[in-house]
Amino acid sequence: MTKRNLVSYTNPGSQIAEQFRTIRTNIQFLSIDQKHKTIIMTSPSVGEGKTTSAINLAISISQQGERVLLVDANLRSPSLHTSFNLKDSYGLTDVLMGRTSLEEAVFQTQIGRLEVLTSGLIPPNPTELIGSRAMNYFINDVKEEYDTIIFDSPPVLDTTDTKLLAGQCDGVVMVLNSGKTDREKAAEANRLLNLVRAKVLGVILNQKE
Ligand SMILES: Nc1ncnc2c1ncn2[C@@H]1O[C@H](COP(=O)(O)OP(=O)(O)OP(=O)(O)O)[C@@H](O)[C@H]1O
Ligand SMILES: [Mg+2]
Repeated sequence: MTKRNLVSYTNPGSQIAEQFRTIRTNIQFLSIDQKHKTIIMTSPSVGEGKTTSAINLAISISQQGERVLLVDANLRSPSLHTSFNLKDSYGLTDVLMGRTSLEEAVFQTQIGRLEVLTSGLIPPNPTELIGSRAMNYFINDVKEEYDTIIFDSPPVLDTTDTKLLAGQCDGVVMVLNSGKTDREKAAEANRLLNLVRAKVLGVILNQKE
């Protein structure tokens, strides 16, 4: 595993781990009546810290004893397999296309009850797959199995995928590269998410030098 990305696990006393605990608490308060939650992590542009934040939030929630599934839905630039040092053999796309079952594709981590589903083989038509009925069924299925499901995703300004997925999830967490994300881009990303009636649960200001 790339230790740098898994700071909530390797260094639970750090300030960053504390910040993820705060976000976790906010999510829990906002969805007090909902037992099974689907959350999508996104940002306006590339490289702002979506994957790093998704991993840390997933770790933080799993440390409370919840069964958590972290899904790589960034079919444009998947990277969860690298962070967890996994072979991206079977993953989300394979489950959606019926090539394998979720049970077979999912990876059990050593961290609490955290499980990871990598992207799988990247199809030529990622948007179609994300917007497919199979994806809809998938979301309903995982909600029965897990307490919290976190989707890593592509930048909201670059693809339709994120909007499609955000419209189906219970909430969105927006990651901004503090100091670098352009205010207008952040506002535009927020506007696009509102159009699909996505509920923005919070914003992570990621301090990336
Ligand atoms: N707070 C931070 N401090 C230092 N490095 C960071 C921080 N956040 C992210 N990084 C590093 O910056 C790079 C991009 O971060 P990450 O992969 O999380 O972004 P992303 O938004 O998922 O990118 P993409 O749009 O390509 O999916 C990674 O190498 C990551 O380790
Ligand atoms: Mg990423």
